[in-house]
Amino acid sequence: MRTIPPHAFPASPRGHLALGGVDALDLIREFGTPLHVLDEDRLRGNCREYREALARVYGNGRVLFASKACCIAATCQIVHQEGLGVDIASGGELYTALHAGIPAADLVFHGSNKTRDEVEYGLRAGVGRFVVDNTYELDLLEELTARTAARAEILLRLTPGIEPHTHKAIQTGGVDSKFGFGILEGAAYQAVARARAMERVRLRGLHAHIGSQVFDLEPFRLEATALVDFAARIRDELDVTTEELNLGGGLGIRYLSTDEPPAKAAYVNAVIDVVRARVDQHRLTPPKVFIEPGRSIVGDAGVTLYTIGAIKTIPGVRTYVSVDGGMYENPRPALYGARYEAVLAERPFAEPTQTVAVAGRCCESGDVLIWEAYLPDVHSGDVLAMFSTGAYTYSMAGNYNRFPRPAVVLAGGGRARVVVEREGYDDLVRKDVVL
Ligand code: LLP
Repeated sequence: MRTIPPHAFPASPRGHLALGGVDALDLIREFGTPLHVLDEDRLRGNCREYREALARVYGNGRVLFASKACCIAATCQIVHQEGLGVDIASGGELYTALHAGIPAADLVFHGSNKTRDEVEYGLRAGVGRFVVDNTYELDLLEELTARTAARAEILLRLTPGIEPHTHKAIQTGGVDSKFGFGILEGAAYQAVARARAMERVRLRGLHAHIGSQVFDLEPFRLEATALVDFAARIRDELDVTTEELNLGGGLGIRYLSTDEPPAKAAYVNAVIDVVRARVDQHRLTPPKVFIEPGRSIVGDAGVTLYTIGAIKTIPGVRTYVSVDGGMYENPRPALYGARYEAVLAERPFAEPTQTVAVAGRCCESGDVLIWEAYLPDVHSGDVLAMFSTGAYTYSMAGNYNRFPRPAVVLAGGGRARVVVEREGYDDLVRKDVVL
């Protein structure tokens, strides 16, 4: 079967883009545009790839889905069916995961400024682990567990002082991050000393997350090294056992044809090799190892379908091809200069003949989804498919310009169903108070 390179989605019998075995044009006929489509097989396949890669090299490990990448009930359910736990980072993500039926014990609660209400909610719900980010949260946990007689199992989020976005990983002397307890400046050590003495709070281990959309495996190795070395130090000096080591997420995915992210197994092998070697070297008891990818679980499973509207050619300058979405439903290009590729859903194999800008419809010149899209001749009414939009698009979407958010559809096995309904104008004013 022909597939659309480099994103490897098959074509339908009619030669159109197909997602989950459903012709993209049938999808938009039924559900309209803009439409976020999640390919179920790919989503499940990504979960399995991680789970199997980890199981192959380390008996005592678990994969968590960083739900912030796409926190809707359906993704929580699917990843959980595939054996993953769920990382949540707010009361809203906690609520969504519980609403989806995920047992609280399978939830790991992150967040750099959890409110008192959120911590209480997490305790009441019985979340499996709190990943404690700062002393404010330790105070809250101490107070609330004493008051409610609840218990909390925690990891401490550490900042290992690693800068992953540079071409070559470097260890910085100091850490300028709002997240976590710095290892280098001694905050991490003090936090461990305090946490181990807490009565109703049990310190289970350590966590770090060094960045996102990372292609270079070296910073991950350095991160694992820093964590295990720190675990050895607190064992030696504070008699604290690190039962669990959570290495965070961050593996990059392919957005552009030229992107070559490492395979999931290569990432898993790299970090496990380091953990194993370092644990042996320090004669530590091997901890349970967690990883918590988000983007690489759901990112390439997502495709956004748009209808092309206005086309404006400025001779000698640029052609703007406007679509019926934009930064309100995918803020990544405007926020991070993120780049994407697109094809026409009806003619995915047509040779590109022009470079155009794919513009969103928000009232800002910066609302351009793709500055340089290579497309064949396009006409108003054509359907544009933008790849790798499964992560940090819908979850970061808003209602700027009062555009209703698109529907999210799950496509698999030749059928598609709505997993988040399209918003209507009535949703936009639902909380407005008319004076
Ligand atoms: N664990 C923690 C504690 C995190 O903060 C994150 C992402 C992850 C795991 C998952 O990382 P991933 O595997 O998805 O790279 N909105 C940005 C990405 C922000 C990532 C935030 N933290 C974007 O659109 O690129």
